[in-house]
Amino acid sequence: MPTTLKIEIKDDIAVLTFDLPDSKVNILKQTVMDELADCLEELGRQAGLKGLILTSAKKSNFIAGADISVIENIASEAEGMALAARGQRVFAILAGLPFPTVAAIHGSCLGGGTELALACTYRILTDDRGSFLGLPETQLGIIPGFGGTQRLPRLVGIAEAIRMITTGARVFARAALRKGLVDEVVVAENLMPAARKRILHHRAGKRSRSLCQPTCLNLLDRVPIWRRLVFSKARQIAAKRSGGNYPAIPAAIDAIEKGSRDGLSKGLENEARLLGKLAVTETAKNLLKVFRLQESFSQVDTEPARDFTNIGVVGAGIMGGGIVALIADHALQVRLINRSTKGLSVALGFMNKLLAGQQRKGIHSAALSERIKSRVTYDTVMRGMDDLDAVIEAVVEDMEVKKTILAKIAGAVADDTLILSNTSSLSITEMAGAVSNPGRVAGLHFFNPVARMKLVEVIYGEQTSDMTLNQAMALSRRLGKIPVLVKDRPGFLVNRLLLPYLNEAARMLEEGADIGRIDQAMLRFGMPMGPFKLLDMVGLDIAAHVADILFTAFGARMKPSPLLTRMMEAGRLGRKSGQGFYDYSRSKGAAVDPGIYPLLKLKVNADRQVDDQEVVDRLILSMINEAVYCLEEGVVSDAQAVDVAMIFGAGFPPYTGGLIRYADKVGAKEIVKRLDQFVSSIDKRFEPADLLRRMAKLDGGFYD
Ligand code: COA
Repeated sequence: MPTTLKIEIKDDIAVLTFDLPDSKVNILKQTVMDELADCLEELGRQAGLKGLILTSAKKSNFIAGADISVIENIASEAEGMALAARGQRVFAILAGLPFPTVAAIHGSCLGGGTELALACTYRILTDDRGSFLGLPETQLGIIPGFGGTQRLPRLVGIAEAIRMITTGARVFARAALRKGLVDEVVVAENLMPAARKRILHHRAGKRSRSLCQPTCLNLLDRVPIWRRLVFSKARQIAAKRSGGNYPAIPAAIDAIEKGSRDGLSKGLENEARLLGKLAVTETAKNLLKVFRLQESFSQVDTEPARDFTNIGVVGAGIMGGGIVALIADHALQVRLINRSTKGLSVALGFMNKLLAGQQRKGIHSAALSERIKSRVTYDTVMRGMDDLDAVIEAVVEDMEVKKTILAKIAGAVADDTLILSNTSSLSITEMAGAVSNPGRVAGLHFFNPVARMKLVEVIYGEQTSDMTLNQAMALSRRLGKIPVLVKDRPGFLVNRLLLPYLNEAARMLEEGADIGRIDQAMLRFGMPMGPFKLLDMVGLDIAAHVADILFTAFGARMKPSPLLTRMMEAGRLGRKSGQGFYDYSRSKGAAVDPGIYPLLKLKVNADRQVDDQEVVDRLILSMINEAVYCLEEGVVSDAQAVDVAMIFGAGFPPYTGGLIRYADKVGAKEIVKRLDQFVSSIDKRFEPADLLRRMAKLDGGFYD
C-alpha cells in the first residue's frame, strides 16, 4: 500500500516528509493519521535523536487539513467527537516528543495542517506569496478539532486566536511573524537549513508557548477580568457579524474560553464535543456544499487553455483599475490604455493603495509590491498591442462608446486575441457586431470590488465561439476567480436577480415601511448589507439605469419603483454623492438620513408593522421567482450556477447553501402559496414562474 510519510535521519535529525500519493495536496486522511501516529511513536523511542522536522514534498502545499469528505459524511455527534479525539491523540504524541520539533512550511497550510504546526516546538514559513497558515473550519460550519482552539490562543493570545478562528482568515508570512504564529520567515531555499539550525540551537527545556500547559497564556490573558472583557467583546462582534446564522462562531469562542479557564485537557475534550455537535448541523452541511460548489466551478475544465502572459485593459475607471491590479497580482503583464493621463494616474494610484494595504496586512513584501507594479505598462493610445493574449474593455456603460472601442481594439490586436467586455448590462451580441470577427468577443463581468468579489460572469453572445468561451473561462480561473457561464440576456444573472430584490425594498418604503427596519431584517437574514445600503453603494443612477433596461426587457414585473428616479432627481446618488438613503457625511459612520422621508414625500407609517418574515418573503421570494425565470430561459445551466453566482457575486448568505437551495428548503409549494397571496394582496408582479408552479405540483426541489 502506498505510504504518505517518508522518514530520513541525517546527523541525528529526523525529517518526516508528507507526500500523499496521486494528490496535489496533503490531506490528513485517517490512514495518514494512523501512519503519522506510528512514525511519531517510533521516533519517540529512538535514542540519540536531536530533533524532528516535519515538511512536505508538494510544490505549493504543506497540509490542506482533515479530509473534507470524511467531515461531510459524519452522521452523528458521537462520530464527529470520536474523529476529533483521534486527531487530538496523534497531535498529543507530537507535542509530547522528547526533542524539539519544527514545522517547515512552504505553501498552503490549513486546518489540521496548522494544528499540526501548533503541536510543534517551532514553526518556520517561507515568504512565498502562496505560503500561509489558517484555520478555515468555521467557514465550513465546524471548529478546529485537533487542538487548534486550545493551542492557538496560547501561542498568539486569546484575542488574536478568536479573530483567526472566527474569520478563518489566511495569515501570510509577515503577519504570521508579527503575530508570533511562526518563529521565522525565510526564502524557500533556506527552509530546511533554517529548520536544522533551530534544532541545533534549541535550548533544552524551552517549550513553544502553544505546548505549555495547563496555564500557558500570556500574562495579560491570565488576568480573569481581562479575559472576561475580551470574550464579551468577541461575542458582541460575533453576534453582529454572524447574526446567529453561524453557530460555529460562538462555539469557537466558547471552546477557547473553556480551555483558557479549565486547562488543556478539559479544553480538548470540550473542543471534540463541540465539533461533533456542529458537524451534523444543517448549517455545516450547507457550508460544506458551498465549498464543493466553489471548488467545482473554480476547477471547470477549460482545455485547451492558452498560456496567458500579457493582457490589455482599456478604460481606467474603478473597474478597469481593479482589473489591472488583479492581473498584475496574478503575475501577468498588463497593458493599460486610457485616453487621458488623468484616468491613468487614478487607476495606478488605486493599485498602489491596494498594494500598500496588502503589504500592511503582511500578504507580501515591499519588493513584491514593486515587482507587481513593474508588470503594468500604460499608454493613452492603442499601439503595440499585437502581443496581447486578451484585451478587456472597461470603458463607460454606453453601447455606442463600447462599439467604437471594440472596433478600435480589433484593429490594434492580433487575429487570435480575445476581446472581452466588462459590461454589467449591455448586450454582448450587439456589441460584438462592431468587429469583423464577433466569434472572439465575450463578456467578462467582474464585480466590485474586483479584488474581493470572487465571481466572474462569462457571457456568451449569439456568435461567441466555443474557443473564445473556453479561453475566457480559463483566464478567469488564472485570475483566481470563479467563472459562471451566463447567456447574453438583459442584466445577465446577478444584476437581474438583485433588481427585483432592491425594487421590492423600495416598494415597501413607498408603503410606509421604515428603511432601517428593512435593512436590519435582511442583515439578520445574513445578507452582507441591507437593500438600501446596497442601492447607495451601487449608485442610484446606475440602479435606475439597470432597472430601465430590465423593465424594457421583461415588462410589468420589473416596473421600477418611482423612488429610484426621485432619488436621482434629488441628487441623492448614494455613497458617491455623500448622501443616498443614508447620510455618509457623518463622522460617526453612515446612518439612515431622517430627512429622506420628507424629501421623498413619504410618511413612515407607524401602524405598518414590518416583521422580518414579511421582508424576507417579499424580497427573497421575488429573487427566487426571477431565478426560476432565468432557469426556464436557460440564462445559466442549473441551480448550482445560480447558487454559486449569488453567493460569490452578491454575498447571498452561504449558510443557506445558496438561493435555490434555500428555495428547496422552503419548498416550491410553500413559495407558490406565498407568492399567490402577494398576487391577491399586493400586485401581479409576484406571479410565480411556470416552472415554479410545475415544481410545486410535483412537490419537488430544484436539486432533486
Ligand atoms: N479534504 C479533502 N480534499 C481536499 C482538501 C481537504 N481538506 N483540500 C483540498 N482537497 C482536494 C481538492 O478537492 C482537490 O481535489 P480534486 O483534484 O479531486 O478536485 C485537490 O485536493 C486539490 O485542491 P485544489 O483546491 O485544486 O488545490 P489548490 O492548490 O488550488 O488549493 C488549498 C489548495 C489547500 C488552498 C485548497 O484546496 C483548500 O482550501 N482546501 C480546503 C482546506 C480546508 O478547508 N481545510 C480544513 C478542513 S476541515
